[in-house]
Amino acid sequence: MALQAQIVGWGKYLPSRVLTNDDLAAMVDTSDEWIRQRTGIIERRIAAPNETTAEMALRAAQDALRMAGISSRDIDLIIVATATPDQEFPATACILQDALGASRAGGFDLSAGCSGFVYALAMAAGAIAAGMSRLVLIVGVEKLSRIMDWSDRSTCVLFGDGAGAVVLRGGEGPSGILSTTLGADGSGGDLLALRPKVSDDPNGRGPYITMDGRRVFKFATRVMPSAVSQVVKEAGLSLSDLQLLIPHQANQRIIEAACEAMGFPMERTFSNLERYGNTSAASIPIALCEAAEEGRLADGDLVALVSFGAGLSWAAALIRWGRAERVVWY
Ligand code: COA
Repeated sequence: MALQAQIVGWGKYLPSRVLTNDDLAAMVDTSDEWIRQRTGIIERRIAAPNETTAEMALRAAQDALRMAGISSRDIDLIIVATATPDQEFPATACILQDALGASRAGGFDLSAGCSGFVYALAMAAGAIAAGMSRLVLIVGVEKLSRIMDWSDRSTCVLFGDGAGAVVLRGGEGPSGILSTTLGADGSGGDLLALRPKVSDDPNGRGPYITMDGRRVFKFATRVMPSAVSQVVKEAGLSLSDLQLLIPHQANQRIIEAACEAMGFPMERTFSNLERYGNTSAASIPIALCEAAEEGRLADGDLVALVSFGAGLSWAAALIRWGRAERVVWY
């Protein structure tokens, strides 16, 4: 029987510096009122200039491993989902592997924008089911402040930095990842992209995010309901069986529009974007962590994760929450 990927530990890291809407209003032509009304965001965290993506990943990973009660030497695969690695190579996952002393682990970075963490969950679930891996560490981490155009009010108010991690272990029993779906539409790639640095840029910017907000909004509200319906249906269940939906934390209006389209109650939806903004690949693992900390996940609960982002890409996963009934070592 194929093993199921069960979440046995989770952790997060948020940099200490808080950037409020009022702080942004002092930098660009915006206001706290506009940002709250259009996005639901009140503040976000910003990494220190010398704080690296790998360091943030390490803090979240250590938290998750501590909770799982396992040694880093037992991990056999590390996947780091990020759009903001410190460098093109070596992979953040390899820097993390060394920092953790995960001497038996392979590691790679996964690039799927804000969908990266759910993509990584799907890859890990597959590796566990195939018997390729037994203990997988997944981290979603971003230092988006590094690629922000701080003079563009249509993007700089949306994003923040942070990291979230989970440990997955192969096990038998009802809990674990039940189904996943992945999607991509590269024809919309230009709608959300990293513009490379140009030497004669009048503002002296490095590579920075450009986005067509309205079209990304429409895309998100279209793909979220269909991805959630798909994973629920694949598991032979229905939307009403879901105890909690953890959507990508991009914009409260997107979450509300997607829930309305699905006929899913907002009370069963998790949101923390007012405090962190959009942390891209880190948003879902941070939210998952906080949902667990706040007691919103009980053993046996069905929880769906759904994300969308650059690519364009989207992904969803359906999880039966609960600690492993029986640990399988092989
Ligand atoms: N403060 C004040 N005004 C702003 C502003 C800001 N930060 N950003 C844009 N505006 C202005 C625009 O210039 C425009 O002015 P105009 O009418 O004079 O041209 C007006 O507000 C409305 O802009 P619009 O883009 O239509 O607003 P919106 O309601 O679509 O909200 C977003 C903009 C970006 C908040 C919204 O489109 C969005 O969230 N899109 C999805 C983005 C996203 O989630 N990306 C990440 C995906 S992983």
